[in-house]
Amino acid sequence: MRSLKKTVLLAILVSVVLVLALLHSWPARAYTTVDVWQQLAPVVERHVEDRLPLLDRQLSNIPFHVKESVASLLPRNGCVCEGESGGINLPFVQLLFPRVSAHPLHTAFNASDLGEMKTRRAKEYESFQRRFKTPADVLLIAEANSPLQYPTQGLEVRPLKTTIIPGLALHDVPRDLYTVSLTATLGTINVAAEVDAVKIKGDGEMHMSLSSSLLPNLNRQLQFVTYTNTLFHPSTIDTVQFETEGHQAAFSIKIRHGVTPKLYNTGSVGEYNVSALVTIATKTFLRYEKLQNLIDSIRKFYPTVTIIIADDSENPQSISGPHIEHYIMPFGKGWFAGRNLAVSQVTTKYVLWVDDDFIFTANTKLEKLVDVLERTTLDLVGGAVQEATGYTATYRQTISIEPGEEEGDCLHLRRGFYHVIQGFPNCVVTDGVINFFLARTEKVQQVGFDPRLARVAHLEFFIDGLGSLHVGSCDDVIVNHATKIKLPWVSQSESDKTYAKFRYPPASSDATRTKNGLLFFKNRFQCLTHN
Ligand SMILES: *[C@@H]1O[C@H](CO)[C@@H](O)[C@H](O)[C@H]1NC(C)=O
Ligand SMILES: *[C@@H]1O[C@H](CO)[C@@H](O)[C@H](O)[C@H]1NC(C)=O
Repeated sequence: MRSLKKTVLLAILVSVVLVLALLHSWPARAYTTVDVWQQLAPVVERHVEDRLPLLDRQLSNIPFHVKESVASLLPRNGCVCEGESGGINLPFVQLLFPRVSAHPLHTAFNASDLGEMKTRRAKEYESFQRRFKTPADVLLIAEANSPLQYPTQGLEVRPLKTTIIPGLALHDVPRDLYTVSLTATLGTINVAAEVDAVKIKGDGEMHMSLSSSLLPNLNRQLQFVTYTNTLFHPSTIDTVQFETEGHQAAFSIKIRHGVTPKLYNTGSVGEYNVSALVTIATKTFLRYEKLQNLIDSIRKFYPTVTIIIADDSENPQSISGPHIEHYIMPFGKGWFAGRNLAVSQVTTKYVLWVDDDFIFTANTKLEKLVDVLERTTLDLVGGAVQEATGYTATYRQTISIEPGEEEGDCLHLRRGFYHVIQGFPNCVVTDGVINFFLARTEKVQQVGFDPRLARVAHLEFFIDGLGSLHVGSCDDVIVNHATKIKLPWVSQSESDKTYAKFRYPPASSDATRTKNGLLFFKNRFQCLTHN
């Protein structure tokens, strides 16, 4: 009994000692709390708002005449989608004389759901804006005749690191005492050296002031001012206030990591080695004869290039051969899910997207597309697809987004392009291209193909990529399209019939509703126009 008590006591003692030792060895580090919801510097915003009306009051009595031709180019409050009306309604008229048509997107939801959809969309949009707006978006105005000199652009510091703030100076009228102060919000201000006859207050703090009766000494001191980021919150901006008597200025310091490169070994120098640079990706569904024709045609010209196939057929057949990767997906996962899977497995610098019913010919010169991406900053370049009729399409589309108010923005799609690329007379810059394109693998993976778009989708990828994908299109790299035109006297095979049922659903179907629903909610559009 006694020995049991002793053992228990001993055990308690040991535990206490252990706990104490543990507490002692615990790193004695004080953690600060950071509000990682980016916030706009309130001080700066107030300054701008306070000063603009001042200017207005003095000038508001002076008359002016609106120049309608220019004023009408300015963004309006809100946007509308307007189609072109009239014209003759004949077959092929849309092909020959494309007219603009407008489509509302809220029709993807029935009336009882629409209200709630809008509320949820507004909530998500608000949090999106909080993530993507930075203090660099705040308007800063430099005042006339400010005696303050400071950097306006290009100042950057790594998180928690220190930098000299170059270019600071005061050019003031003679006075007894010259004083300047600097105020940061995400870091501290200090000096890397001290200059005689300058009084420094608050060095190493968020607010530092310098004063001297000798202007040259003060300016010498300003050359040694440093900024140290102290709150770890990368990809933000510290707006620093720089003040002297009667004058204020603000400038921004970017706080961010460097970009980590992702480089690809592209094989030997000299001629482009397509097998080392490019992976061909495709998605198949039921059409195995077409896929085999595609593979055979690729092998004629590129015997060792890797081909990645995503397959969501119900009864997948085996596809094998050297340099072929066949990924089987759950039945009917869909078009964009398949694209995503295929692209996620690419390990080369570039990925070529093809449909499973394309055929390579002597005109399918991938080297030309590689050359465009190697020698420009474009991320993606489309080629041309030739139909059995001889008709060749590049399907170039420009995409523009007109800002709207609570109802959402307006999406405008138009056939066409912006300009020819210098050095490549057959290539242009545009926003969207056909289903046959070569792209930087990393960029395509970043934009991604929304797997919710299961059936009818293509341009949605370019809409998601607008602003991050730099797109070109060349009409001299041509792939053939296995015939698509249905001739009434040729009976379709069983697999073609099933395929058509999935791939070309009627316009009023769920697939179209899903697509419009995504444009409405995910991309926050109210309507779209296209020609
Ligand atoms: C509206 O659509 C939802 C699903 O999309 C459905 O559950 C609901 O019954 C529909 N309401 C009406 C009134 O049609
Ligand atoms: C081209 O690249 C492939 C794959 O990396 C490699 O096997 C082949 O030897 C290369 N060819 C030449 C000519 O360098």
